Amino acid sequence: MHRIAQDLQPLATPIEGLRLDPRNARRHPEVNMAAIQASLERFGQRKPAVANRRTGIVLAGNGLVTAARALGWDQVAVVWTDDDETTATAYGIADNRTADLSMFDDAVLADLLREVEDEYPPADLGFTLDEVEALVRRVEAETGTGGGGGGQPAPEPVEPSPAPVSRPGEVYQLGPHRVICGDSRDFTTWAALLGDERAALIFTSPPYAARRDYDETSGFQPIKADEYVDWWEPLQACAAHYLAADGSFMVNIKEHAEHGTRHLYTRDLVLAHVRRWGWLFVEEFCWERNGIPGSPQIMRRFKNQWEPVFHFARAADFKFRPESVTHISANAVLASPLNPKLKDLTEAGRSGDLLTGASFGEGQAYPGNRLPPFVSENVGHTAAFPVGLPEFFARAFTDRGDLVVDPFMGSGSTLIAAARTERRCYGLEISPGYVDVIRRRWGDYCRALGGEPGPDAL
Ligand SMILES: C[S@@+](CC[C@H](N)C(=O)[O-])C[C@H]1O[C@@H](n2cnc3c(N)ncnc32)[C@H](O)[C@@H]1O
Repeated sequence: MHRIAQDLQPLATPIEGLRLDPRNARRHPEVNMAAIQASLERFGQRKPAVANRRTGIVLAGNGLVTAARALGWDQVAVVWTDDDETTATAYGIADNRTADLSMFDDAVLADLLREVEDEYPPADLGFTLDEVEALVRRVEAETGTGGGGGGQPAPEPVEPSPAPVSRPGEVYQLGPHRVICGDSRDFTTWAALLGDERAALIFTSPPYAARRDYDETSGFQPIKADEYVDWWEPLQACAAHYLAADGSFMVNIKEHAEHGTRHLYTRDLVLAHVRRWGWLFVEEFCWERNGIPGSPQIMRRFKNQWEPVFHFARAADFKFRPESVTHISANAVLASPLNPKLKDLTEAGRSGDLLTGASFGEGQAYPGNRLPPFVSENVGHTAAFPVGLPEFFARAFTDRGDLVVDPFMGSGSTLIAAARTERRCYGLEISPGYVDVIRRRWGDYCRALGGEPGPDAL
């Protein structure tokens, strides 16, 4: 069964004989005109315009006719109808509306763009670089392959529970650890969690600017990149207050690209720590990640394979335990104080040349400020970082029994890292659904080790 309204045989029609619809409700912004022109140039006209024989007015395809004119074409293919004025107007609205209601499946579109990109780069198909960047960000967020907390792809992103049992304002005791459900930019949340205690290390991966993939039912609102530094100000003030005098504050955050360039808000954030809030900027660590195979032609950049971790402190004599993060290396400096074989390193050091007289071979070596891609696990949070990351910093900058705080705790990776390294961890997390995830993760961790997680674990 079908109903074909009129003779669908399109006729090659001189373009100057066509009248654009002066009352066309659909506007074609410049970028759309450019896309139609690009398509006409690459593929030729593949579907006809529709015009009313009685008036010569174009009912569907006004953008197409305008673009063809701009390209200097003298004729286009047209299907002619024989509508009265009301039917013609109604059809024009209906045609625009159906185009309006359709939408792309982002993941399928990204795949298709990749498939054809060698011959047809997205710009030729009417996509601006901004649109492509936004598309890739959305797909990353949906598939958990983005940079949220810098985590590697979660095999199956799990949403926070829609009916959480955790409640805003409540503190949950998880063995020697604690988590509070609340806003970490609010001093009273920290006070309720820490009381008189102070953190040896504050380690966190905050929500990245412009990311939407957290739990918006918790009251979380995506933060605009341009407002990020102001948004962060109360958080760093709480951190400064609750950090021990010799403590360290580590922030894992990476900016996205916008309009083809990296956003600068994370640079502003680092500068503000020093120039506005009086922190010492000690170091920038480079944490390597296994990047998701990307699409250089689409993104016009290579895949992201690292994230920074910025190290701030209040004083230069922050606690530092490099000997607890050494590793066996085939090419260690045997003159290192860690390798007593060569005791004269201090002499060499004094003489101004650390490596004079040093030999190399298998031995203990200190790490550099470039960290490896740690192993990830699926923990029920799309932006979780691997436990190995906070674990490294807990070992290098705190002692056993010290307190580590994570003000954006997500799924509780920092808590597990603290447990593994015999530190204590207090966390703040705004989403009751993610607090559930933390309590459950702690319970699973403890029970797997044959331990008793306590009544607040799930
Ligand atoms: C990047 S994720 C942290 C992921 C975490 N590192 C992990 O491994 O699971 C950021 C978290 O901060 C939480 N969050 C956002 N705004 C917050 C706020 N004002 N106070 C406390 N938590 C917040 C989000 O709900 C999200 O779970």
